[in-house]
Amino acid sequence: MPEPRPHRALVTAPFRGPGLDALREIADVVLDPWIDHRPLRIYDADALAERVTTEGADLLIVESDSVKGPVLDLPLVAIGSCRGDPTNVDVPGATARGIPVLRAPGRNADAVAELAVGLLLAVTRGIPRADLDVRAGEVYRDGTIPYQRFRAWQLAGQTVGIVGLGAVGRAAAWRFAGMGMQVISHDPFAPDATHSLDDLLAEADVVSMHAAVTPDTHGLIGAEQFARMREGACYLNTARAGLHDTDALVAALERGHLGGAGLDHFDGERLPVDHPLCSMANVVLTPHIGGATYDTEANHTTAIVEGLRMLLAGGSPPNLVNPEVLT
Ligand SMILES: NC(=O)c1ccc[n+]([C@@H]2O[C@H](COP(=O)([O-])OP(=O)(O)OC[C@H]3O[C@@H](n4cnc5c(N)ncnc54)[C@H](O)[C@@H]3O)[C@@H](O)[C@H]2O)c1
Repeated sequence: MPEPRPHRALVTAPFRGPGLDALREIADVVLDPWIDHRPLRIYDADALAERVTTEGADLLIVESDSVKGPVLDLPLVAIGSCRGDPTNVDVPGATARGIPVLRAPGRNADAVAELAVGLLLAVTRGIPRADLDVRAGEVYRDGTIPYQRFRAWQLAGQTVGIVGLGAVGRAAAWRFAGMGMQVISHDPFAPDATHSLDDLLAEADVVSMHAAVTPDTHGLIGAEQFARMREGACYLNTARAGLHDTDALVAALERGHLGGAGLDHFDGERLPVDHPLCSMANVVLTPHIGGATYDTEANHTTAIVEGLRMLLAGGSPPNLVNPEVLT
C-alpha cells in the first residue's frame, strides 16, 4: 500500500507536464480544470468554498475562480493562482489569515510574443485576406494577379518599438531582432529600455504594446501618440485594449496615417460586428488568445508546484506574493 500523502490538492486550473507529476508526489490531487467544462465553469467564492470542503483539500490551485470570503475561512496551507497577477485572489484577506499565495509570472510570455509576431506578419503581408481570396476562388480579381495586390515592405531592416519591457516585451524583442528588425524600447521601470515614449513613437515602423495596464498607462496611446507615429506605421497590441484610445486608433487608420493594426484584446473582450475595425482590410483581430498555448499551462504548473515544494520545505519561494505570512 502506498503511504497516504500528507496533503490534498484541489486543482481547478489546467495543469500538465512534469510539474503535475511533482505535485502528485507531495499531495493527493483532485484535478478538475475549468477549461474542460462547457458551459464555462468559474466558481464564485461560495461555490469554491463548498468544493474545497467537499474535497477535503488543504492546497488550492486555481486560475480564475474567486478566492475570497468563505474560501479564506477554510484551513488552507497554500493557494496557487496560475496567473502573473493573482487578481482573482483577495491577497490582503489571505495574508490576514496567514495563507501563502503563489503566482506564476511570465507563464505566457513566449505564447503572447509568438502571437505578436504572427499578427505583424498577418497585417503586413495581408495573410488573412490572401487566404480568403484563395478559398473564394478569387485569386485573379479585377484584372489583377495576387502579386500585384499583396506587395509589401519586408520587416528585416525595419525598426520595432516595444512599449513595456517586461516578460512578454522581452520575449517579443528577441523574436523581432531574429527577424532582422532593429529593436528599440520604452519602459520607465526598465534600466535597459532605450527610448522615451515620444522618441520611440517617432522612430518605430512597428509599435508593439506590452505594458501592464496601470493608472499611468491607461489610455497611454491616444490621438496625439498615434499622430506622432510614422506615416504607414503598424500598431500591435497583444496586451490590453485599455492601453489605447480605440476611437483614436480608428481615426488614425481611417485617415491612412497608420498602415495597419493587429489587436488581441478589446474592451469587454469583444467588438460589435459593425465596429469600424471589423471592416478594415489592414487590421487583423484575434479574441484574446495570446496566452492560449499548452506550454502556458505547463509553465504555470511548474511555477506553482516549485513554489509549493519550497514553501512546504520551509523556504520562501520567489513567486510568493505575500512573504510577510512567513514571518
Ligand atoms: N493577450 C494575452 O493573452 C495576454 C497574456 C498575458 C499578458 N498579456 C498582457 O501583456 C502585458 C505584458 O504582460 P507581462 O506578463 O509581460 O507583464 P510584466 O509585468 O512582466 O511587464 C509589464 C511591463 O510594463 C511596464 N510598464 C509599466 N508602466 C509602463 C509605462 N508607463 N510605459 C511602458 N511600460 C510600462 C513594467 O515596467 C513592466 O516591465 C500586460 O498588459 C498583460 O496584461 C496579454
